[in-house]
Amino acid sequence: MTMPPDLAVIGGTGLYQLADLQDVETRQPGTPYGAPSGPVRIGTLAGHRVAFLARHGEGHSVPPHKVNYRANLAALQAVGATRVLALNTVGGITGRFGPRVLACPDQLIDYTWGRISTLCEEPGSEVLHVDFGDPYTPSLRARVIAAAQAAGVVLIDGGCYGATQGPRLETRAEIARMRRDGCDLVGMTGMPEAALARELRLEYACLAIVANWAAGAGPDPDEVITLEDVLANVAAASAGVPAIVGGVLAG
Ligand code: HPA
Repeated sequence: MTMPPDLAVIGGTGLYQLADLQDVETRQPGTPYGAPSGPVRIGTLAGHRVAFLARHGEGHSVPPHKVNYRANLAALQAVGATRVLALNTVGGITGRFGPRVLACPDQLIDYTWGRISTLCEEPGSEVLHVDFGDPYTPSLRARVIAAAQAAGVVLIDGGCYGATQGPRLETRAEIARMRRDGCDLVGMTGMPEAALARELRLEYACLAIVANWAAGAGPDPDEVITLEDVLANVAAASAGVPAIVGGVLAG
């Protein structure tokens, strides 16, 4: 019997594998909710077992509104994970959250629609009214922040993640509204993942990687967001991610 992983990591756009993972075994767990986005790869990092799943599939074939968030989390739970660190590529809305910044948000606002956002979907399933005042698990957030500090990786502690439907990017007016609402970051995959993790009683925290200024939020109001810029910024900002993951495992 193999050891359950100490941590599961869900990779987002531009993060289809975890660098430095050794002795990797591949699992394809079935779930009551259907198939996850791809295989779960379990390997060793910093002397601990860690499970990795690419949220959009390893070839980025699943758009945000089509991700089977329930199956992804259930697959990670099926391989024994109890803690999930979600890597989310985002746009920055407020001043400190510019491109290439890493952040560990502590709040979120859900603007998504039409996604299966609960385990209570099937007729006869138990109705769960989980507490979601703190959408991210405070103890896991604290480990992420401590790991970044110990590794000397700059990470903003806090911020509000606004989850939009996508796959299109937002209008300037939508971003202006999100700023008024109190959002610092905007991404397409933060919900329902966080809420489902809570329903499944998984510890869950988000490590957000800012890829671009959200529409109209940067110093150049006419800037057009390109996929090339997004991927280049994610690649640059992700350099610190393995050290944070390693520190969370060791903490
Ligand atoms: N908006 C929504 N999601 C994103 C963005 C954005 O500007 N950048 C990366 N993911």
